[in-house]
Amino acid sequence: MKGVIFTELMAMAEENFGEEAVDAVIEAADLPSGGAYTSVGNYPCEELLTLVGGFSAHSGLPAEELQRLFGHWIMDGFERHYPQFFVTRNTSIDMLEAIEDDIHVEVRKLYPDAELPSFETEREGPSTLNMTYRSPRPLAAFCQGLIEACAVKFNETAQIERKDSVTPEDTVARFRISTEPAE
Ligand code: HEM
Repeated sequence: MKGVIFTELMAMAEENFGEEAVDAVIEAADLPSGGAYTSVGNYPCEELLTLVGGFSAHSGLPAEELQRLFGHWIMDGFERHYPQFFVTRNTSIDMLEAIEDDIHVEVRKLYPDAELPSFETEREGPSTLNMTYRSPRPLAAFCQGLIEACAVKFNETAQIERKDSVTPEDTVARFRISTEPAE
C-alpha cells in the first residue's frame, strides 16, 4: 500500500488526537516499519489496519468509523493533489462510475505498484448507482467514506446502503447510492 495513504493517516491522527497520542500508538504497535513512512514508500496494508486499531483503542471510536472518517479526509487530499479528476465530472455518480476505467487507471500509471480495488457499477436510474467493491484488503468502510465524501464534493446529499460479504480471497461490499442535489 502506497506511503501516501500512511502519511495521510498520520496527518489525520495528529490533527484529531495530537502528536503524543500518535507516538504512543506507534510505539505500542511495534510495527515492522517502525512507523516512519514516506509518501513514496510502500508498506503492508496490515500496518494500516494495526494503526487504525491502535487509534480506535485510543479514541474509543470503532475502527470501522475511523476508516470511514479517513475516507473523508483523504478525499480532500485527492481533490487538492489531483483536481483534474474532479473538474471533468458533473456529479458524484459520474465520478464513481469513472474510478474503475479511468481514475484508478491513471493512478496505476502514476504508481505502477499501487494495490487497487476493483469496482463494478450499474445505474439503476439517473441518480441511483449500484456499485460493487472487491479487494483482498478489508477496506470497505474506507471506501464508504470516500463515496460519502465524493457526494459532498459535488454538493449532493447521498443515501448509501452497504452490504458486505467476506470470502476467503476478497472483501466484497455492495453499495446502493442515491443522490440528490443539496438545497
Ligand atoms: C486506493 C476507492 C478515488 C487514488 C483506494 C482504495 C479504495 C479506493 C477503497 C483502497 C485500496 C483497496 O481497498 O484495495 C476510491 C473511491 C474513489 C477513489 C471510492 C472515488 C470516489 C481516487 C482518486 C484518486 C485515488 C480521485 C486520485 C489519485 C488512490 C490511491 C490508492 C487508492 C493512490 C492507494 C493505492 C495503494 O495503496 O497502493 N481507492 N478511490 N482514488 N486510490 Fe482510490
